[in-house]
Amino acid sequence: MTIERVFVAGAGLMGHGIAQVHAVIGKHVIVYEPDLARAQAGVTRIAGNLDRAVAKGRLVAADRDATLGRLSATADPADVATADLVIEAVFEDAGVKTALWRDLDRLAKPGAIFASNTSSISIDLLAAAVGEARRQAFVGMHFFSPVPVMPLVELVRGTATSDTTVAAIREVAAELGMTVIASADRPGFIVNRVLMPLLAEAMRALEEGVGTAEDIDAGARLGLRHPMGPLELADFIGLDVCVGILRVLYDGLGQEHFRPPAILERLVAEGHLGQKSGRGFHVYPR
Ligand SMILES: NC(=O)c1ccc[n+]([C@@H]2O[C@H](COP(=O)([O-])OP(=O)(O)OC[C@H]3O[C@@H](n4cnc5c(N)ncnc54)[C@H](O)[C@@H]3O)[C@@H](O)[C@H]2O)c1
Repeated sequence: MTIERVFVAGAGLMGHGIAQVHAVIGKHVIVYEPDLARAQAGVTRIAGNLDRAVAKGRLVAADRDATLGRLSATADPADVATADLVIEAVFEDAGVKTALWRDLDRLAKPGAIFASNTSSISIDLLAAAVGEARRQAFVGMHFFSPVPVMPLVELVRGTATSDTTVAAIREVAAELGMTVIASADRPGFIVNRVLMPLLAEAMRALEEGVGTAEDIDAGARLGLRHPMGPLELADFIGLDVCVGILRVLYDGLGQEHFRPPAILERLVAEGHLGQKSGRGFHVYPR
């Protein structure tokens, strides 16, 4: 199937980036938030990103204008009616996501594909929110932050996901210039399952006084050639996001290395969420 119209639910860190990359490749994109001002803020954020690309000579002004012309903001979920592909990037909360998918299932056209950008919630659990007929079109489409820079889509196939749906997502990802990796619907999928124990172990090392946050990060950067240290990466992802993913991994798989470290739980309880709150394992701006 040809995907021309995309409806992106959620205009936060991930949603605005997902909307941007689809508009850049010529799709017509509607950005939805229940509060119109937030949807519009998402489009304004995209305009800022494109302006910076023009200033750096990476994009011509005419292409920026054409991309912005393909983007619109809405607070009306009924605008999903024209979409061929619906991508959900709302809060990582199963209740919020299932309530939204239930509504969108009523309002979207029968052939539309439903893709969730969830980092850790089971695709089968989310697909249970939509009617039987739609489940074959339900899939995980997990992007990475920042979306315009990270060329990867983790495709998560649920029990009911059809080959046609998988092929359509692969085709869109190819148009986006992104590589697809296919993951089973298991806790944390592939990337977070591999990443989170490393971040958690760095936190436990800090907790035990093995080294300072600076030295633990420098160890990974200079000794392992990681582009960022594990503690600064956790701060970048968001400590609330990290604790949420670790809980899903620990609850689902039970191994000790997935248990959220006490220091992480404490920082989140104190409101220190990393870069976005100005403090996590480090203080920002650094
Ligand atoms: N942060 C990351 O690095 C990252 C990476 C990959 C995937 N994800 C996943 O992407 C999703 C969004 O994460 P984020 O980091 O962009 O969060 P965010 O908090 O920046 O954005 C979430 C947005 O969803 C909106 N929202 C909440 N309920 C809504 C609803 N019912 N309808 C429409 N919009 C609604 C909020 O107003 C907010 O703007 C989560 O599922 C998260 O796990 C995050």
